[in-house]
Amino acid sequence: MLVGAWLSDGCGQLRIEKLRSSHQAAFQKFLGELGRSTTYDYTHFGYEVNPEQATSKVLRDVGTGRVSGYVVLHGTRIIGFGHLDYFSKKEKRHVARLGIVVHQKSQGKGLGKRLLDYMIADAKDKGVEKIWLATYSDNPRALELYRSRGFVVEGIFRKEEKVGRRYRDVVSMALFTGVGRKT
Ligand SMILES: CC(C)(COP(=O)(O)OP(=O)(O)OC[C@H]1O[C@@H](n2cnc3c(N)ncnc32)[C@H](O)[C@@H]1OP(=O)(O)O)[C@@H](O)C(=O)NCCC(=O)NCCS
Repeated sequence: MLVGAWLSDGCGQLRIEKLRSSHQAAFQKFLGELGRSTTYDYTHFGYEVNPEQATSKVLRDVGTGRVSGYVVLHGTRIIGFGHLDYFSKKEKRHVARLGIVVHQKSQGKGLGKRLLDYMIADAKDKGVEKIWLATYSDNPRALELYRSRGFVVEGIFRKEEKVGRRYRDVVSMALFTGVGRKT
């Protein structure tokens, strides 16, 4: 079982932990601080995030085991969040859906990559065989991050969303973890 991991940033203050109820206030603050360009690319809670509602929902889902949540902490401040969502349908229990968001001030410093690696390792630990996600064709950073970790494009949903007058293509990507593979 994976426990929290320290990230070496030179001052040893960065840490990845499982999201839990004691993170409530810090998590709500994190969501409230996300800038427009970040929530434009991370739309799991909608284009307009309601931090209070989103926090309650995530903590409730973590409590019931429907979601595994992960936070990147800088001291006691949350600067990144990831989640694996599980399916109740028996035939989809080997699959998890993944999402990641890093605070705009901390993007491009390798945190997304480390958080993703941690989540993939934890998913394998839990016996997840397929990790699936949806991102946008106009989000090269996310596409490259996932591609660099072995995710492949499964399909593109063209003009799936319309934001103002702009259409967005949704890209579905997946990674087979190798867990459960018969050799
Ligand atoms: C996408 C996101 C999670 C990536 O996290 P991050 O901490 O910014 O990314 P990292 O610094 O770990 O970079 C990871 C990889 O992304 C790629 N990358 C980074 N910046 C990039 C850019 N400007 N263009 C293309 N690829 C880029 C690189 O492959 C990089 O790996 P490398 O440093 O070994 O070359 C983060 O930027 C974010 O939260 N963005 C807004 C929300 C979002 O897009 N979430 C994903 C939606 S599914």
